Amino acid sequence: MNNFRFWSPTEFVFGKNTVKHVGALVKKYGGTKVLIHYGGRSAVKSGLLADVENHLQNEFVEYVKLGGVQPNPVDTMVYQGIELCRKENVNFILAVGGGSVIDSAKAIAAGVPYAGDFWNFFDEKVTINRALPVATVLTIPAAGSEASPSTVITKEKERLKRGHSSSLLCPVFSIMDPVLTFTLPANQTAYGIADMMAHVMERYFTQTSGVEVTDRLCEAILSAIIKEAPLVLKEPENYAARANIMWAGTVAHNGICGVGRDEDWATHGLEHELSALYGVAHGAGLAVMFPAWMQYVYTSGIDRFVQFATRVYGIENTGDKKETALKGIHALKNFFSSLGLPVNFEQLGARKEDIDRLLQTLAINSGGTLGSFSKLDMSDARAIYEIAAEVR
Ligand code: NZQ
Ligand code: ZN
Repeated sequence: MNNFRFWSPTEFVFGKNTVKHVGALVKKYGGTKVLIHYGGRSAVKSGLLADVENHLQNEFVEYVKLGGVQPNPVDTMVYQGIELCRKENVNFILAVGGGSVIDSAKAIAAGVPYAGDFWNFFDEKVTINRALPVATVLTIPAAGSEASPSTVITKEKERLKRGHSSSLLCPVFSIMDPVLTFTLPANQTAYGIADMMAHVMERYFTQTSGVEVTDRLCEAILSAIIKEAPLVLKEPENYAARANIMWAGTVAHNGICGVGRDEDWATHGLEHELSALYGVAHGAGLAVMFPAWMQYVYTSGIDRFVQFATRVYGIENTGDKKETALKGIHALKNFFSSLGLPVNFEQLGARKEDIDRLLQTLAINSGGTLGSFSKLDMSDARAIYEIAAEVR
């Protein structure tokens, strides 16, 4: 096991009717003038936005609003948010929505006190020294941004999708009411499930040895998701199933599964190029890329793939490692398919002819290498995209 520091500072306020605490929580964390940041339609349509406003008014907290964040959030909205916050002397950002809204909120929070262009953070030219506090009212379990130090933004003009992390961007609180997720359509629910499973697997597939506790944590979270996912799709208003999926999304990405071990993240790098180029949902891209990555790298650590197959999918270990490992990969792919997720380029709406374009931006964003379980260069990345492009 590697040495580690683990710091997860977010206060999670979880359960039915917890949105009513939002005003008191904003005050607790020093907010006096709030930017409420939200997405396209869902929070308005469900009445959540009006509820949040009422609860802030009840606590005499002032606010301004900025909606319209699109999935795979873009820099232009961030610039707009920074300008509005400066003009209105906002000192607290409240994201009401999913990963896209939260990530846009985090980028605004970092950009407001910074004199330069906020994209400098994403270019890794400067580090974040100050940020406004960010909090969330989560409406979709998926990205884990309600608990993570990361933000992922797309530079619209160049279609460059990049992430940046800073402990200053960890939300101070996250309100998580599973009832708010009842309105999620099946496809968004499934995209979220693929993303949270990917967050666990990016950490699970490691070459670090002696990490039994985190191995078992990862396996438990994956097993719970595999059990609850079909239920949540069949019964969208099943509170317990929605609640378990919601909490799974948080523990998948608050860092607890990755302590003491090297993490991989090659698949996220490969996927971000797909969502940047085609605007597809991040979780959909991951459902295509994860099995393809596995198929390419499993011989670099076959025992771990055997462990995944036997412990997560209950596949019998016949003694033939290759056969058992491949059965585990197929089980994951079949599971994604059973949730209605795409598992190849064609189903995703991606094109084999675009692989060169994907590799061009991947090379810029990754610096030419990816991953740690198996260190990949751009020729490996090409081979993985080619596997994903096969109709399997
Ligand atoms: O815009 P509205 O109308 O709200 O609709 C959203 C959006 O279309 C809808 N939705 C959200 N809550 C809903 C709902 N519809 C009905 N009922 C509700 N309760 O769902 C759609 C998707 O929302 P989005 O926020 O885009 O989803 P997600 O949470 O999956 O976020 C995806 C973004 O997060 C990034 C991804 O790359 C992508 O840009 N990620 C962020 C990470 C982080 N900050 O740590 C890590 C991840 O790996 C990921 O890269
Ligand atoms: Zn992700």
